[in-house]
Amino acid sequence: MNKKFFAAEGAFDEINDSNGKINIGIGTGSTTTIFINEFLPNLKNRINTIFSSSNESTELLENLQFEVSQGVPENFLLDYYVDGADEIDKNYNLIKGGGGAHTKEKILAAASKKFICIADDSKEVEILGRFPLPIEVIPFAEHSVRRNLESMSEKITKRSFFSDSGNIILDMHGMLISDPEKMEAELISITGIVEVGIFAKNKPTSIKIGRDSYYESIDC
Ligand code: A5P
Repeated sequence: MNKKFFAAEGAFDEINDSNGKINIGIGTGSTTTIFINEFLPNLKNRINTIFSSSNESTELLENLQFEVSQGVPENFLLDYYVDGADEIDKNYNLIKGGGGAHTKEKILAAASKKFICIADDSKEVEILGRFPLPIEVIPFAEHSVRRNLESMSEKITKRSFFSDSGNIILDMHGMLISDPEKMEAELISITGIVEVGIFAKNKPTSIKIGRDSYYESIDC
């Protein structure tokens, strides 16, 4: 078993220990893929509705015969949102978006009562920023956004693909994000930015860190 498997098992255990039918949101990435394939089938009879953060995860879910609902629920909060992370700092702020899906991921996290973050222990850091910070941008605004971001980072690169919503993804390198909440608010205020990969406002409610032979569960 690898560390990502143990992290995913932690999410399964938390949900399995709860009672009744659940509405659930599903993230994107390799750890979430393990959760989908190895654990979600065992929760099938507990699931009322299921929402997905990306085309990639929707395809995995549909392969397992889950019927995926569109967007976010109209008149209720999801019971759980399960997703990975690229970095987790000591105050449980996250960087996400390594797969370019952070906008829909944040929307689902914000639409959920509980956000269970699943990650192997390589994702733990003192201060966010070693991992390039993903920024989703309206294509029309690329150059003006870049100009605004230039003074804040060492280097900016552009992904070679578009997000599921048809936007570009820029990555900010060489950041030292000592005040994630402030940085998140500052970046989101730049016209043309759709969403940033800092999850300080929408922190997880619990984190399952996969270690060598077990997971550590942290209540945030
Ligand atoms: C997807 O856009 C990301 O936010 C992922 O949740 C994040 O990159 C973690 O992915 P892994 O589980 O593959 O490390």
